[in-house]
Amino acid sequence: IREQLQAVPQPASWNLLNAGLSACTRCPLHGPATQVVPGHGPHDAPLMIVGEQPGDQEDLAGTPFVGPAGQLFDQLAARAGLDRGQAYVTNAVKHFKFKEGAKRRMHVNPNTSEVSHCKFWLDSERTLLKPRLTLALGATAMGALTGNAKGVTARRGTIEQTPHGPVLITLHPSALLRMPPADRPAAEDAFVADLMLAAETLA
Ligand code: URA
Repeated sequence: IREQLQAVPQPASWNLLNAGLSACTRCPLHGPATQVVPGHGPHDAPLMIVGEQPGDQEDLAGTPFVGPAGQLFDQLAARAGLDRGQAYVTNAVKHFKFKEGAKRRMHVNPNTSEVSHCKFWLDSERTLLKPRLTLALGATAMGALTGNAKGVTARRGTIEQTPHGPVLITLHPSALLRMPPADRPAAEDAFVADLMLAAETLA
């Protein structure tokens, strides 16, 4: 199956990519999700930002990073002098994976099969966009972008070269949201420092 999926040619335009995405049945996640959440932002952006997968609010809106993690990202990016509006923002996995909780739908991490099936779309986005720099938010994005999902804490703040260009690794903003309040300020400062490295690299 892997050979067959790899044999499918990548879409040659953004229109074809988005049409293919909205009809995607490569993995089972399209079933329960409300809709696919495609990447968002200028198609000539120098910076590509990659998260894990849409959350509850993104699944409803059809746009990446509009919920709490996205709002925290925007605040910290502003501190680093990075404007998300100038970036192409997407996720390693394009459908929300969840289980029903008592009050709301609860996020479930995508598994390696889901990530590798969706990598066809991520690779296609990288081919079309040709970003000067890609920012990996968290281990799932890091794994999909570099081929190695292990050791995000040691690798964060570094830039790794890949066939699709340099990838700057940092934590996922949701990891900051989950931290005990006492640990948040230092963790946010470290995140801002990573984003400043992105801003400097692009300057
Ligand atoms: N978390 C992500 O990784 N991506 C989103 O789009 C929203 C939350």
